Amino acid sequence: MASSLTISVILGVLWAAILLSFATTVTAAYPSPLESEAIALLESRWWSNHSSNTSQRCQWPGITCNTAESITKINLSDAPNIEVGDRFGKLNFSSFPNLVLLDLSDHQIRGKIPHQIGDLSALKYLDLSSCGLSGELPPSLGKLTQLEFLDISYNDNINGSIPPQLGNLENLVTLNLSQCGIVGRIPSALGQLTSLQSLILSGNQINGSIPLEIGYLRNLTFLGLYNNRLVDSIPITLYQLTNLEILYLDNNQLQGSIPSCVGSLSKMQDLSLGSNLLKGPIPQEICNLANLTSLYLSQNKLTGSIPSCIGSLSKMLDLSLGSNLLKGPIPQEICNLANLTFLDLSQNKLTGSIPSCIGSLSKMLDLSLGSNLLKGSIPKEIGKLFDLSNLNLSFNQLSGPIPILSATHLYIVDAGNGCEKIFPDPFEGNSDLSPYMCPTPVTEKANSSRIPYYIKIFLPIAILFTFSILGCLLCSRFKLKNNHVSVQPTKNGDLCSIWDYDGKIAYEDIVAATEDFDFRYCIGVGGYGSVYKAKLPSGKVVALKKLHHLEAENPTFDKSFRNEIKFLSEIRHRNIVKLHGFCLHRRSMFLIYEYMEKGSLFCNLRDEVNAVDMDWTKRVEIIKGIAHALSYLHHDCCPPIVHRDISSNNVLLNSSFEAFVADFGTARMLDLDSSNKTIIVGTYGYVAPELAYTMIVTEKCDVYSFGVVALETLMGKHPEEVLSWLSSPSSLVNMKLVDVLDNRLPLPTSQLVTQNLVYVATLAFACLNPQPKPRPTMKEVCEEFLSRHTSLGIPLRMISLLQLMNREMHIGGKTKTCDV
Ligand SMILES: *[C@@H]1O[C@H](CO)[C@@H](O)[C@H](O)[C@H]1NC(C)=O
Ligand SMILES: *[C@@H]1O[C@H](CO)[C@@H](O)[C@H](O)[C@H]1NC(C)=O
Ligand SMILES: *[C@@H]1O[C@H](CO)[C@@H](O)[C@H](O)[C@H]1NC(C)=O
Ligand SMILES: *[C@@H]1O[C@H](CO)[C@@H](O)[C@H](O)[C@H]1NC(C)=O
Ligand SMILES: *[C@@H]1O[C@H](CO)[C@@H](O)[C@H](O)[C@H]1NC(C)=O
Ligand SMILES: *[C@@H]1O[C@H](CO)[C@@H](O)[C@H](O)[C@H]1NC(C)=O
Ligand SMILES: *[C@@H]1O[C@H](CO)[C@@H](O)[C@H](O)[C@H]1NC(C)=O
Ligand SMILES: *[C@@H]1O[C@H](CO)[C@@H](O)[C@H](O)[C@H]1NC(C)=O
Ligand SMILES: *[C@@H]1O[C@H](CO)[C@@H](O)[C@H](O)[C@H]1NC(C)=O
Ligand SMILES: *[C@@H]1O[C@H](CO)[C@@H](O)[C@H](O)[C@H]1NC(C)=O
Ligand SMILES: *[C@@H]1O[C@H](CO)[C@@H](O)[C@H](O)[C@H]1NC(C)=O
Ligand SMILES: *[C@@H]1O[C@H](CO)[C@@H](O)[C@H](O)[C@H]1NC(C)=O
Repeated sequence: MASSLTISVILGVLWAAILLSFATTVTAAYPSPLESEAIALLESRWWSNHSSNTSQRCQWPGITCNTAESITKINLSDAPNIEVGDRFGKLNFSSFPNLVLLDLSDHQIRGKIPHQIGDLSALKYLDLSSCGLSGELPPSLGKLTQLEFLDISYNDNINGSIPPQLGNLENLVTLNLSQCGIVGRIPSALGQLTSLQSLILSGNQINGSIPLEIGYLRNLTFLGLYNNRLVDSIPITLYQLTNLEILYLDNNQLQGSIPSCVGSLSKMQDLSLGSNLLKGPIPQEICNLANLTSLYLSQNKLTGSIPSCIGSLSKMLDLSLGSNLLKGPIPQEICNLANLTFLDLSQNKLTGSIPSCIGSLSKMLDLSLGSNLLKGSIPKEIGKLFDLSNLNLSFNQLSGPIPILSATHLYIVDAGNGCEKIFPDPFEGNSDLSPYMCPTPVTEKANSSRIPYYIKIFLPIAILFTFSILGCLLCSRFKLKNNHVSVQPTKNGDLCSIWDYDGKIAYEDIVAATEDFDFRYCIGVGGYGSVYKAKLPSGKVVALKKLHHLEAENPTFDKSFRNEIKFLSEIRHRNIVKLHGFCLHRRSMFLIYEYMEKGSLFCNLRDEVNAVDMDWTKRVEIIKGIAHALSYLHHDCCPPIVHRDISSNNVLLNSSFEAFVADFGTARMLDLDSSNKTIIVGTYGYVAPELAYTMIVTEKCDVYSFGVVALETLMGKHPEEVLSWLSSPSSLVNMKLVDVLDNRLPLPTSQLVTQNLVYVATLAFACLNPQPKPRPTMKEVCEEFLSRHTSLGIPLRMISLLQLMNREMHIGGKTKTCDV
């Protein structure tokens, strides 16, 4: 009985051995190393749901073998169905002499790390992060002397302290024990891990001081000890770690001061010492850390002033010095930090005023200067910070007018009465300021309450009356309806914001400059408003786009106004009209642009004199200018911008007939909209045909509109007729190009001008393809302008529209890139 059992066991083992082994001689009593691996895998039962045929174990999920079929890696990252569970300790760790990698991260393992893990003598990489482990870290981990990577982070139920035996892992490059519930001190033996580059012990309950021996870890680039209970001062040896790029010591109970030798950490990018008990001044030497992008010193007891040299740290993105005892002014030099997105100086004792240059920090998202002793007025330049999503100037002694904020991420609502309210109140606790942006500042409440009520009521009426009479006297001709314009006896000028302009400008100045928007000054009526020419008190001539009253009350329209400001203030291109500023008065809104002497392309083509002044060369240049502007919007802006309303009305010409694209009220950034679907916008006659049925806006819609404008420029009138022929190309056979060209101009005589003309016409037809896909991109259009044109094979008079459509006249070389 017993012997037959023995025989059957031996036979079973033999059978297994024959299946498993290709090379080794089999002895029944001592399984070969490969057999041991197979048996160990089978007995672990980790793969029990998958297979029990160990002859295929090298193909089991998560297992990698070497050429001798011995297991080198167990990586269960991609094998979520393999359950380790409470069977971690069931693996016979001493059976894997070639295992270099064990990655069980994110697999639920209930229980402790088995002591036997120390038997994985070849292990280089051990990842047990997020495994739900508990119990103490076994000292046997110190036997894994080949280990280069050890990550046991995010196992909240581990307890006990860091075993000093880890100091034996002299090849360790990464040690991550964050979020492990570890208690006790950092063993000084960790100072022996001289290969270490990343040491992360954050989010535990580690107490005691940072051992001096940390200073031996000269190759360390990342040291994270934040969220612990470390005490005493930061050891001076830590400042010898000159390879450090990231140092997080925040949220401990560290004392002492920041020594000047912090300046020797010259590779530092991210320095976090916040939420400790640090005292003394911020050393000047911190400004040596030229690669610093983030400096977090908030919530300490730092004294002295903010070193002005901080302005030399040009890569800075986040600067947090809040909740300290800092005194003195906010240094102007802070405005040199062009990429700054987060500035927290709140809860200090800073004095002086807010530097107006702060408006130049155009990437600012979060500006917190609350709870200081700041005085003076709020710089109106803050209105230029479009990306601002948090503004907190609360609890200071600020006064004066509320700047007009154009930030699209701040929560601003119409409060009625022409006022807008900002939530949450960024000016709370400044006794003179309210969260309202309005033409009759609520801020003046304290003062105005002293004015007798009859003056409050009658003065505006009297002034309105006077102006109305004055207006009627001035306007002898038809006047656009703007009965909403009422002038308040208050500082309306504060509501205008004009950049790069010295003089102050008030609403009254604009009323005066346009004689209360007299029709004589009206130089155009666009979809969203009328445009006026205005000479400012300084003598500068600008164009004012006054948005229609009714639309101005519509919230989506308000969005379009902010849209336009945002786009244009960020765009710099020689063929895009420049925005100088904007102005809000009650519910009327203005955009202040560069003035274009000749007005719109539409008007010029319809003006007999100007149409003739616009010779073929000028017209070709106008078309190229529009193409450059669109190529810039589509391909060089990030995210790309679709104009959506290209028409001859929205192309303006300066005194030398150079083209400028204008009217960005309906433009949109392509990737903002998840669907790209839209209600149809654009001007009838210029809208791409696919919009009628797809309602999906792409840059190819602009390409089509460009084709219409290009053809219109060559024909001198809207190409309606030609567009209708495009659907039946056969009708184009007998249509010659010269028949449609603007007959107010003589045909070109120069060979080069003729070539350009034909070339532009060819591209226009390509852009008018009814299908969006085959239309060229604006970049391709620009590139083709730059390619060398071959001479025409046939005289201009002979060229038919069909030949243009079929691109028979030119084959463009795409060599150069678009010059924008
Ligand atoms: C195990 O797999 C091998 C190879 O595919 C196959 O030849 C053998 O029959 C399988 N053994 C069992 C018990 O299924
Ligand atoms: C483990 O496998 C996953 C998925 O194949 C892979 O992305 C990861 O790099 C592997 N881990 C290691 C340490 O090689
Ligand atoms: C594995 O098998 C057990 C028992 O049949 C079952 O309870 C468990 O859900 C299975 N696990 C997976 C991942 O399929
Ligand atoms: C584990 O494997 C080793 C070597 O393969 C073997 O000597 C030992 O007996 C095994 N231990 C257990 C408990 O199976
Ligand atoms: C440590 O964790 C283990 C397992 O969860 C538990 O049995 C033990 O009591 C814990 N020890 C301490 C000191 O909390
Ligand atoms: C632990 O830290 C190392 C080094 O920074 C990192 O590569 C690893 O992803 C971290 N582990 C987890 C779970 O975040
Ligand atoms: C540090 O933590 C350990 C374990 O919680 C505790 O025994 C020890 O008293 C603490 N030391 C100090 C100085 O708080
Ligand atoms: C430290 O890094 C350098 C450069 O990478 C390397 O040559 C040196 O061996 C490392 N030192 C240790 C102790 O690993
Ligand atoms: C700062 O960063 C740049 C780019 O990453 C690097 O080339 C330079 O060496 C760094 N400077 C220092 C002092 O480490
Ligand atoms: C500012 O950010 C831009 C874009 O991320 C980058 O190209 C530029 O180099 C940064 N400037 C500095 C001084 O780091
Ligand atoms: C603004 O900052 C002050 C402290 O400076 C704080 O009390 C207040 O809650 C902050 N306001 C908002 C809206 O965060
Ligand atoms: C919107 O248009 C852009 C550019 O054409 C494209 O990359 C993006 O995938 C589109 N989004 C959707 C949801 O179609």
